[in-house]
Amino acid sequence: MKTGFGRFRPALLALALLTACFSAACSGGGTESSPPASATKAEQHGGVGGSGSKHGGKIKIGFSMDTLLEERWQKDRDLFKAAGEALGAEVVIMAANGDDAKQILQAEMMISQGVDILVIVPHDAGATAAIVKKAHSAGIKVMAYDRLVKNADIDLYVSFDNEKVGELQANAITSIVPRGKFVYIGGADTDNNAHLFKKGVFNVLQPLIDKGDVSVVYDQWTKDWTPVNALANMRSALSANGNKIDAVIAANDATAGGVVEALTEQGLAGRIPVAGQDAELAAAQRIVEGTQTMTVYKPIKLLADKAAELAVKLAKGESPGADRKVNNGKIEVPSVLLPPIAVDKNNIDETIIADGFHSREDVYKNAKK
Ligand code: GAL
Repeated sequence: MKTGFGRFRPALLALALLTACFSAACSGGGTESSPPASATKAEQHGGVGGSGSKHGGKIKIGFSMDTLLEERWQKDRDLFKAAGEALGAEVVIMAANGDDAKQILQAEMMISQGVDILVIVPHDAGATAAIVKKAHSAGIKVMAYDRLVKNADIDLYVSFDNEKVGELQANAITSIVPRGKFVYIGGADTDNNAHLFKKGVFNVLQPLIDKGDVSVVYDQWTKDWTPVNALANMRSALSANGNKIDAVIAANDATAGGVVEALTEQGLAGRIPVAGQDAELAAAQRIVEGTQTMTVYKPIKLLADKAAELAVKLAKGESPGADRKVNNGKIEVPSVLLPPIAVDKNNIDETIIADGFHSREDVYKNAKK
């Protein structure tokens, strides 16, 4: 999908109004996307001194998020804000909740408000290229956070090794189910990560498919990553195969939740291995209850800290010293990719619980004694 700024010019009046709202600290850029009130003020006025902005004074980081509807992104918001503020920057956060036009409009607002650096979690990998152009023409560098922006001269990409995420999932599941009928419930087609996760899964499955040990009997994207769409996909997979499925790999824990719901409807939850990703609390609970086999833990604090540190460097015109390159269809983007960690019931205590990602009490809340 091509989304140019030109398409949104008629919205300039709205932009002016929203800009007024923005100055008055109504983060979220609109009524429906505001993050919780507790975070709102600080998101607009955070920071504890420090300097280094191109214009003198405190560095202002604009953080443009796709959504806050999933647990992980709420962690990203809070941790990124805290990390930026600890470095003496001001962090302005807006979330578009899956609306491309809104994400672009919000980014325009941040640019016109004079942020020194823009950090984007794109909803649509292609549509957000328009933001990069606009920021660059205002002399503002742009970092892609967690998700890559495609076909744009993005300055830096900070994420996890997303192909590795898929490999961890498929390794975990094939070590339990080395042959049989597999279902792949993908993420959102518009998210570059969904493609990387799937690539990683098939890096592991393809040799088994070629040997005739594994067949993938259902393989679909899940629009906007929602559990309800994953539930519908999984119902289709079950009915198309007369419930004869041996394993499911879901691209994240939200979609794994939909998968487990569909399996529960058929009395199959806990009998068919399911992989997810994100180490969300609900998934950790399903793991200890036995309805989800594994998840992939991505320590969000490391990502947020690294991204904030490099955002400040970029804003100061310093080199971020990124050691890897990822092709985004236009350029080789300097990248930092952190390692993900596979988690199942055997190592849940020493990973997500030991890190304080979730408390032991919360994770084992519903587990049978
Ligand atoms: C991906 C991200 C995952 C998951 C998903 C849905 O881009 O890497 O961790 O949260 O989006 O929001």
